Amino acid sequence: MALTPEQEQIGKENFADSVNTLMNTEENPTKVTRRDAIKAAAATGAGLGIAYFGYEALAESDRVKVAFIGTGDEGNILLTEHPENYFDVVAIADLRPTNRERAFKGDPNDVRIGLVRKLGADRAKNIKQFASHKELLEHKDELGIEAVVIATPLVSHEPIALDCLEAGLHVLTEKLMARTVTACKNMIRKAKEKNLLLAVGHQRHYSVLYDNANSIVQSGALGDIKYIRAQWHRNNSFPAGDSWRKSVPKADEASLGGKDLSEFKFNDVNQLVNWRLYNSTGGGLMAELGSHQMDAASIFLGKVHPIAVQGYGGKNFYGIKHVGPEDKWDDDREIDDHIYVTFEFPGKNFKENNRDKCVVTYSSMNTNKFEPYGEIVYGSRGTLFMKTEKEAMLWKEDGRGSTGGGPDQRLWIVTGSAGGGGPQLEAYETSSGAAKGASGGPNWADNVSRGYREEMEHFAFSIRNHGPNYWPNGKPRPTAEGGLRCNGVVAMADAIMALTANLAMEHQKRIVFKPEWFDPDSDAAPETDPEIIG
Ligand SMILES: NC(=O)c1ccc[n+]([C@@H]2O[C@H](COP(=O)([O-])OP(=O)(O)OC[C@H]3O[C@@H](n4cnc5c(N)ncnc54)[C@H](O)[C@@H]3O)[C@@H](O)[C@H]2O)c1
Repeated sequence: MALTPEQEQIGKENFADSVNTLMNTEENPTKVTRRDAIKAAAATGAGLGIAYFGYEALAESDRVKVAFIGTGDEGNILLTEHPENYFDVVAIADLRPTNRERAFKGDPNDVRIGLVRKLGADRAKNIKQFASHKELLEHKDELGIEAVVIATPLVSHEPIALDCLEAGLHVLTEKLMARTVTACKNMIRKAKEKNLLLAVGHQRHYSVLYDNANSIVQSGALGDIKYIRAQWHRNNSFPAGDSWRKSVPKADEASLGGKDLSEFKFNDVNQLVNWRLYNSTGGGLMAELGSHQMDAASIFLGKVHPIAVQGYGGKNFYGIKHVGPEDKWDDDREIDDHIYVTFEFPGKNFKENNRDKCVVTYSSMNTNKFEPYGEIVYGSRGTLFMKTEKEAMLWKEDGRGSTGGGPDQRLWIVTGSAGGGGPQLEAYETSSGAAKGASGGPNWADNVSRGYREEMEHFAFSIRNHGPNYWPNGKPRPTAEGGLRCNGVVAMADAIMALTANLAMEHQKRIVFKPEWFDPDSDAAPETDPEIIG
């Protein structure tokens, strides 16, 4: 989507004004804090979740004793962002010596700062380190560990989570929840059996920006939503540019080279380091990138389950003669490098009329990054653009009989309209001039929290408040009653979308989703469904 800077600024101001208006209606006085929250988002980007998502800071003596398992790229982001007034980090574990060291020293930049810079050398030196999650669990009692954060490769989420739940620890695991739907169900069942929390790190559930955007969508101001386009396009065609292909560091080779790593689900150290490239250890572009964005699309559609999915995926670039300094790259990767999928979702009146559908397309490629990644919600009255998880823009639709609109037009949102309907978008009399006003408008890009911190804060808060019966009626406590926003059941639905899309591409089929796949008490799963794999 090619927009001028002025149009983007107009879109951002439209969004901010609409959120402020919606949050301050007379019917909605309790949500006034959201206005403060979004202003805080613009100002600081930190600690937004408190009050916003209905949880409170913990007393110092109440901090949860946590261990981090897997301190690679993402584990180090989480260590950097971890809320030190909710978590007392007592241990880390990683198979790779380089990543154990990195947990303390971080990288030479400000993105992953390491525990020493984060907590100070005195506190950091008390944090124990272990060479695997199994070794860590042997010491859980002496260290008083109550919960773990798992940021290991996809294939290991289930076995590590099961070991930790079995040991009586609450679990926050990174997305995708697991490599199969059966594995997701095993995790949910184990957490239920042990009455422990199982949270999954789809951070958009804790992003204030997404929550604000969802308020606009749920208000109905966008009109009929018939299409959402989500994409994450990258260009890894330059030889040094492939962020998913890594060399094995010397220290890791020295420690793990030639060793049998099958007890941890890897053939060898290369597969441990490059797990994203292989089908047995990763889930490809759909699991790594698409699951986040399908999560966002389904949040906007009210978390309904999709009807069907079809798509194309292929290894269209790697290993093929191509433009570049070399004629051909030998490449042993198994995962597709280009994917294009189409989901059908039920519209609000689908039950009465099965033509009422919303289509969501998702694409991810490796050879062109012209557009920044994001999701665009196309409504009959307005368009919402979520850009790179950090910016949100809103424009009104223009058309015959409308009051103006389009990407150059400022708008406001009118609540309690004369027609008795819900909130509506109205164009300002002036257009782009207003958006360039003296205030400069919101400029969030550098400081908006993507939700990691809030996700960990809420996990800790929920641990302290989960009570003896976290699973009333066999289901995790609902969000409205203080339950996790992305619990196992919610996250399994995201996994089902991603993994079924992979099956649709592999088997070249339009697959209809079955309700029993979403039921943790049923053994049915897409990967074992004879209608798909038969
Ligand atoms: N939420 C997000 O935005 C986001 C972003 C990136 C990655 N992720 C997810 O985070 C997870 C990790 O990704 P990454 O990029 O950090 O991978 P990575 O390869 O950089 O790090 C994974 C680490 O886990 C360690 N590990 C594997 N098995 C272990 C075990 N049994 N005990 C202890 N350590 C073990 C590995 O040695 C490695 O250091 C993946 O599930 C990925 O999808 C999430």
